Amino acid sequence: MKRRQFLTLAALWGVTVACGADSQPGAVRPAGKPAFRNALLVPPLLKPKVGKDGVRRFDLTMQHGRTAILPGAPAETWGFNGSYLGPTLRASRGDKIQVAITNRLEETSTVHWHGMRLPAKMDGGPHQPIEPGTTWTPHWTLDQPATTSWYHPHPHGTTAMHVYRGLAGMFIVDDDATTGLPATYGVDDVPLILQDKKFAPDGSQAGDPLKGTFGILGDHMLVNGTYDPFLNVTTERVRFRLLNGSNARMYHLSFSDRRTFHVVGNDQGLLAAPVPVDRISLTPGERMEVVVAFAAGEQVVLRTVSGSDDIDEGDFDLLKIVAAPRLATSRPLPARLADIAPINVPPDAKVRRFRLNGHDAINGKEMDLSRIDEVVPAGATEIWEIENTVYGHNFHIHEVAFQVLDVDGNKPPAYAQGHKDTVYVPPKSTVRLAVQFGRFTDPATPYMYHCHILRHEDSGMMGQFVIVKPGTENQVPRTIATHHTM
Ligand code: C2O
Ligand code: CU
Ligand code: CU
Repeated sequence: MKRRQFLTLAALWGVTVACGADSQPGAVRPAGKPAFRNALLVPPLLKPKVGKDGVRRFDLTMQHGRTAILPGAPAETWGFNGSYLGPTLRASRGDKIQVAITNRLEETSTVHWHGMRLPAKMDGGPHQPIEPGTTWTPHWTLDQPATTSWYHPHPHGTTAMHVYRGLAGMFIVDDDATTGLPATYGVDDVPLILQDKKFAPDGSQAGDPLKGTFGILGDHMLVNGTYDPFLNVTTERVRFRLLNGSNARMYHLSFSDRRTFHVVGNDQGLLAAPVPVDRISLTPGERMEVVVAFAAGEQVVLRTVSGSDDIDEGDFDLLKIVAAPRLATSRPLPARLADIAPINVPPDAKVRRFRLNGHDAINGKEMDLSRIDEVVPAGATEIWEIENTVYGHNFHIHEVAFQVLDVDGNKPPAYAQGHKDTVYVPPKSTVRLAVQFGRFTDPATPYMYHCHILRHEDSGMMGQFVIVKPGTENQVPRTIATHHTM
């Protein structure tokens, strides 16, 4: 392989890479045929500049580059501050944050903070375009429990392409809760961004993310942009922050020996207590924090297995984990993790119904940037009922935390009963959510809700809601000006 090109990518990420021999570009490696030649890349932590005012200022640049995702076959990719994916931002509850995002691409994009509770103007949806050559500088105060959130473009109609080319990164929120969970980034607290790809023989990413029912369902798996990866671990327990950063694929994750591991967090924060599992499911946009125990000297493979939907076809190995011959002692897994208040639905809670019956509309309406679909009073708790009459979808709501009440009348598994912002809606089923809305009001700037299968989101399976001062719901204009060029 062209060692130099691979090392260029490694240098961009600020890590060292053990270089393997060539992998066949185009080769499919299903579960059971492992190679695991490449050390897992770990996105670097982005250092903020902390001003006298206490504001933590981060700089992100959206840019083109070339990445040898398939070793020896460099091709055009997009990234933040590098050629593929982006650095991890990390800050604590109470911190004042500012991010200056410069767009060095030739097209308009946006950057959305998926999982952040913040004012609509800072949300980075399609109403906050970043034109080529310009910089957008959102700022907010982190005020939510410890969370694994992420950032990605959200320009209406081109989100699928922008994310597929490589624009995505993690944003970790810490809080004071001394949970005793592993927290040393890159050592025992490791992000795992899962993506599937199709590659052309020259190593470029192939496929049209807006074609077919689901867009891209790849036959090559990447973790943190690393093809065919392995990870050396050096501690008895490791916390993995899993992010499904794929355009459409759903993962059913387990280990090759079907070992038990513990889920400790959902999209919007930690669970009250760890939940033992041997398999978890994750649809696009969802995050899950897990803690896995290792024995000295062992090796085990993280894999995904086929399910019964169309978006989870195929068994694939994702990552080989190699435990060092001696492991540093880890603290025992805490019995209690966080004080999680259940989202209580008042008896007179408003119920809103959303129907998914194709791939380009919700309640029969295609996304319209100038139409406000729902008006929600600040601080409300509501029931949102998502009915899916067709093939698999999922559902994401900006700004909120929700808990899944039931799926066709059944409670979700214990590991998925925490606070979330994205949920799987299986074929021909109804999911009911207890949704807790925030307190930032802005009658003229909407937040989005949508299917996070990006092909569906881009083709109009999305709607808009505003959060307003309670009592003003009926005074809010339902049509807004859209001033941007998309
Ligand atoms: Cu992750 Cu509206 O998006
Ligand atoms: Cu979001
Ligand atoms: Cu969908």
